[in-house]
Amino acid sequence: MQPAAKAGEQPGAATSRPPLPAITVALPASRYCFVPRQPNLLDALRSEGFDLPFQCRAGYCGRCRVQLCQGEVRYRQQPLAWLNPGEILPCCCTASSDLTLQLPEAVVATGSWRD
Ligand code: FES
Repeated sequence: MQPAAKAGEQPGAATSRPPLPAITVALPASRYCFVPRQPNLLDALRSEGFDLPFQCRAGYCGRCRVQLCQGEVRYRQQPLAWLNPGEILPCCCTASSDLTLQLPEAVVATGSWRD
């Protein structure tokens, strides 16, 4: 037996979560865009082949910092690591809008993605 549909839903329609915001990584000669499958930004980037370094995964060490070029993120709790203007800590945040990021050169140079 199928559950009752809510107002505005078609009976029997599959319920699904809305897609997560799109992530764009600015590369030297192009851009790499993807829709993450997990909300944690560090996990999303690593699952796409960006070998972003990390240590604490809790916003203390600053090891995972990247430059946010466009968009907004949300932190579970305010991170303690010191950040330069425009930097974010993907280990402890989620995208709250479509994002454009610039990753450290060392990460971009060793990625498994195509430029
Ligand atoms: S891994 Fe430590 S702040 Fe992100």
